[in-house]
Amino acid sequence: MNDSNISDKRHRVLSGTRTTGALHLGNYHGVLKNWLELQHRHQCFFFAADWHALTTEYENPAQIAAYTREVILDWLGAGVDPNLCTLFVQSAVPEHAELHVLLSMITPLSWLERVPTYKELRTQLKEKHLATYGFLGYPLLQAADILIYKPEFIPVGEDQVSHIELTREVARHFNHLYGKNLSKPLLQEPKALLTKTSKMPGLDGRKMSKSYHNTLGLREEPSQVKHKIKTMPTDPARIRRSDPGEPEKCPVWRFHQIYSTAETQEWVQVGCRSAGIGCIECKRPVIEAVLQEQTVIRDKALPYQKDPSLVSDILREGARVARQNARATLDEVKAAMGIVTL
Ligand code: TRP
Ligand code: SF4
Repeated sequence: MNDSNISDKRHRVLSGTRTTGALHLGNYHGVLKNWLELQHRHQCFFFAADWHALTTEYENPAQIAAYTREVILDWLGAGVDPNLCTLFVQSAVPEHAELHVLLSMITPLSWLERVPTYKELRTQLKEKHLATYGFLGYPLLQAADILIYKPEFIPVGEDQVSHIELTREVARHFNHLYGKNLSKPLLQEPKALLTKTSKMPGLDGRKMSKSYHNTLGLREEPSQVKHKIKTMPTDPARIRRSDPGEPEKCPVWRFHQIYSTAETQEWVQVGCRSAGIGCIECKRPVIEAVLQEQTVIRDKALPYQKDPSLVSDILREGARVARQNARATLDEVKAAMGIVTL
């Protein structure tokens, strides 16, 4: 991406993805489709948050680099366009860490301790020993990720709102402490741009989520996808082929609502309730539609998968542009704090 044409777009938008595994169709229908639209209208910075992955995976960090690569391939396959946005990996921009250290000096512990995700995840993931400094500081690192680019909008899900709130609070606190003599606030308070929750259910009808083990990977092996959909639960009332069912009680119907034409949906409604069709038959169009969607994504990712140097080039250029921007803010921050190089 050359530096001049990103500056044409109206607002700056930034978001990150923790790289703890390849992305799934829930991420696609929720987050990524949103990014695909934003990239045409705004100056977008999207990054793979590998340090944030480390906060919970530090006991087993060997996989994070591979996951980071998978996530980047997922983005590119889905159509996130490196000619329209700046794509980079967090750890390639050490300025985030430098700002994190500086912000950590002014952030009261109590602000971090009361972040709801901190308490929830610490109890949920008990086996992971999350009584670490890094985990407590997770949302402050996120604040540094954000504030260093002075973006207007942060597209995130509902679960991230408290982190954006903390980010705003830290920005205000910083400006109050060090920015009194400046004509405009040095750190800008960003707004959360709430991503509509994805309509994509998981294989079991609950929200599609890695922690529920009910996902379909964005570029998952077709044979595996077929197997997963074939063994998906259906309306429990349909024990025998001759038992009528109720689509509203079946996760497969939710997939039809996303993937099927009105005609096919009608065929399901009538056929299920009259036991005119069997569940295997009913799943067939879903399998086809999912495979077709994934084929497009997999094909688009393929050249990058085959030639890792293409990905390296994109990420190197992304990090260059990101660092240029990050460095500028960091220099202002240091000057405001009176940190000078002797
Ligand atoms: N915490 C975010 C999540 O779990 C990931 C993230 C890290 C992020 N840094 C960010 C999101 C900065 C937006 C902006 O989804
Ligand atoms: Fe579900 Fe289709 Fe079987 Fe009805 S026929 S229970 S909608 S899979």
